[in-house]
Amino acid sequence: MVKFNGLKKIKTAVFISGKGSNLKNLIKFSKQKNFPISIDLIISNNAKAKGLIYANNFKIKKKVFNFSNKIISEKKILSLLFKNKIELICLAGFMKILSKSFIQEFNGRILNIHPSLLPKYKGLNTHARALENREKYSGCTVHLVNSKLDSGKIILQNKVKIYKNDSVKTLSKRILKQEHKIYPEAIIKLFS
Ligand code: GRF
Repeated sequence: MVKFNGLKKIKTAVFISGKGSNLKNLIKFSKQKNFPISIDLIISNNAKAKGLIYANNFKIKKKVFNFSNKIISEKKILSLLFKNKIELICLAGFMKILSKSFIQEFNGRILNIHPSLLPKYKGLNTHARALENREKYSGCTVHLVNSKLDSGKIILQNKVKIYKNDSVKTLSKRILKQEHKIYPEAIIKLFS
């Protein structure tokens, strides 16, 4: 893995599908002098993703791929990534599953944030499932992406207590706050 040498930041693309609060948070950190990455490209599978607004606000290049044909979309994304000399991909609420061959191209250089304490609750609806099972804790995980869903090497996790009167809304809000802490921390841990 390339390290940040204090001069040249690691060129990063962030993939989103929705609100983009993790994206916004990473952009904010990337502006700090000693933060290892710069965010040079935003990719979304959803033209209506609210997070795309941060591309305009922060003057970052953005591109939407609809994934109606996954093979073609991924091919186009890869060529855009190479063209922009992207070295790292951060998935942040990206709701598409990338193919094995795509992941291979960026082997060990794709990060994801997942709203559970992996290996528990891989996949969707993590908060509802944690509440249903009356877990005492949930949390979030930053991990490397490999070809198995939500199963790559764990970089950082934060635990969050579940209260009796929690709903999906209250729990997800509390966990999102921790996501905003550990995603930048994981990047510092990996690249500094
Ligand atoms: C986060 O909870 C993330 O863990 C999950 O999707 C949500 C995205 O939130 N994968 P945002 O778009 O970053 O606000």
